[in-house]
Amino acid sequence: MILVTGAAGQLGSDLVDGLVARHGGSAVLATDLRCCDQLKRSGADTASLDVTDADAVRMMIQDGVFEQVYHLAGILSARGEKQPDLCWTVNVDGLKNVLNAVRDTRTRVFWPSSIAVFGPATPRHRTPQVTVKDPSTMYGVAKASGELLCDYHASKFGVDVRSIRYPGIISSSVPPGGGTTDFAVDMFVEAVKSGQYTCFVRETTRLPMMYGPDAVKAALDLMDASPSRITIRTSYNLTAFSFSAEELAEAIASRVPGFVCEYEPDFRQAIADTWPEVIDDSKAREDWGWHPEYDITAMVDDMLSHLVDPASSHV
Ligand code: SER
Repeated sequence: MILVTGAAGQLGSDLVDGLVARHGGSAVLATDLRCCDQLKRSGADTASLDVTDADAVRMMIQDGVFEQVYHLAGILSARGEKQPDLCWTVNVDGLKNVLNAVRDTRTRVFWPSSIAVFGPATPRHRTPQVTVKDPSTMYGVAKASGELLCDYHASKFGVDVRSIRYPGIISSSVPPGGGTTDFAVDMFVEAVKSGQYTCFVRETTRLPMMYGPDAVKAALDLMDASPSRITIRTSYNLTAFSFSAEELAEAIASRVPGFVCEYEPDFRQAIADTWPEVIDDSKAREDWGWHPEYDITAMVDDMLSHLVDPASSHV
């Protein structure tokens, strides 16, 4: 049996679909704060779970027979700046509750970290696996702390916890909420809907990104890897490609005639400015064979075909 927290989110909904396709609906328990219709449509079993409620998390994990927990519940960077206390509580206390609950079980845990653990003093080009981490957002502070919690629980209590520092994730099924990299998804949606988008970061803003199906594949591949292959228990750098906002707008405009993108940076610009432009993910490639399936061209084509015809399948 597999437990997913934050299952109604951007990554969660695609991951639940992937897990149900692999293992069948009755092998997956998809939970979120509120158990919505979209979760029910996934075919997985569903339940409500507040990850900040330590007793509820302990009871659910210890009463269940979970071989794996994908603990995805979290608050993203931009919302985290507006609600820093909530961001800490959900992202750090929620993780601690899960790690404590699995301590005496054989449950394998997946937890997403982020490029947000890096900050102004981190090298922004080919950011190494081991480097300065001086996050300037509460989201980044929480993710950096979470990485240390994972490493501590692995070395102290033998918890088999595995993590990825995700770049921006682009997907068409469930929109992201409250992130800095959301502009990339919004740009596609608005291009198809209205042919016009006002981007909240400058045109030159370059960030590492990944297409949703690859984000799911990375989580599944990492969780499939034999424990001896996992040499990093904080979190693995991971990427598929990097582009500037302007390059994405051009790629979309070449397929959506007449699409116009304007730029009006807001407070999220300052966040993006402290994150890497290009990530070195060679450790993930070496240790557990990470390789993305989608380059930018395949991602743009697939995103647009899904937004124009939501029933179409991934290439
Ligand atoms: N996509 C996240 C955000 O923008 C970063 O991990 O907050």
